[in-house]
Amino acid sequence: MTKINNSPNNVLEVKNLETAFKIDGEYYNAVDNVSFQMKKGQVLGIVGESGCGKSVMSLSIMHLLPRGIGKVRGGEITFNGTRIDQMSEKEVNKIRGKDMAMIFQEPMTSLNPVFTIGYQLQETLFNHMKITKEKARQEAITLLKSVGISRPEKIVDEYPHQLSGGMRQRVMIAMAIACQPKLLIADEPTTALDVTVQAQILELLKNIQKANDMSIILITHDLGVVAEMCDEVIVMYAGRIVEKTDVEKLFYQPKHPYTKLLMGAIPKMDEEAEVLSSIEGIVPSLKNMPKVGCRFADRCPMAKPECFTVTPQLAEVEEGHEVACLLYEESKPKEGMKVS
Ligand SMILES: Nc1ncnc2c1ncn2[C@@H]1O[C@H](COP(=O)(O)OP(=O)(O)OP(=O)(O)O)[C@@H](O)[C@H]1O
Ligand SMILES: [Mg+2]
Repeated sequence: MTKINNSPNNVLEVKNLETAFKIDGEYYNAVDNVSFQMKKGQVLGIVGESGCGKSVMSLSIMHLLPRGIGKVRGGEITFNGTRIDQMSEKEVNKIRGKDMAMIFQEPMTSLNPVFTIGYQLQETLFNHMKITKEKARQEAITLLKSVGISRPEKIVDEYPHQLSGGMRQRVMIAMAIACQPKLLIADEPTTALDVTVQAQILELLKNIQKANDMSIILITHDLGVVAEMCDEVIVMYAGRIVEKTDVEKLFYQPKHPYTKLLMGAIPKMDEEAEVLSSIEGIVPSLKNMPKVGCRFADRCPMAKPECFTVTPQLAEVEEGHEVACLLYEESKPKEGMKVS
């Protein structure tokens, strides 16, 4: 286990991460040279169209990539001051579920249908704590109560299929926070739920985050959720970060043409004014990634010829605002230059 001298304020540091999948015997990067840092207690949003690498990045951090198909083949992941990307499964098992946890869109894929809710919660506790059977049951009930489940004494003995979708997601959250993790990754945690339940679950996450000063990576397609929940936001496109900034700047001064399109900030001229653009074209598949240049260039209304040949690097173009786009290459602050 390597201890890294990183900033003590950072719960997570990802440096030049490359995650690849084996397709027809060859590896292709689904996450390509991704770097970011996350402060303690921060809620970091990750947005981007389907297939941009949001889930793969999370699974890389959690060591949950499908075995034999996906692998981290470059870069470093430092969690809580310790390099975790090269850890053995045995070492990872000590921190996953305890110090970092993940919740998914569909709780039924993570809950085991043959065991009661209480049993599964207790297993999580037994895995990471020295706790008696009676204490674990009591703790399971307390946890269920803390995620807003009424009559937890009854629910603790029920099976996942007996619960509604919203209740199951609450149980998943209870399992994820059972050991008070420092980092929670929530991958589309409310997408499968109806709007009212969505709002309740988000409120719950927010409250838990505040109470425990927990850091959350929140992956969502819903920009309303981002505005409501996040401090900082990363915009991903085709496996790369194209923009990273705080939530206000992202909404009020988006810079990357992709972000602007995602925001629907550029209405299409040839359609009714109220119809905002969905982005024309598709995210390239892993085998069809452009080898050079900006991966968004062929869909970008602002593309210049060099966008197809020069790969833009993510750089801070204003304080706290990072963009990977040639349009902003000249506006990178030079030493001593004041940025308004
Ligand atoms: N098991 C796998 N085998 C091969 N390719 C995969 C696998 N899982 C993901 N990919 C590919 O990796 C890329 C990133 O996928 P990922 O699931 O991270 O996207 P995403 O941003 O989470 O999308 P969504 O919003 O739909 O959840 C896609 O091109 C996808 O096809
Ligand atoms: Mg995903």
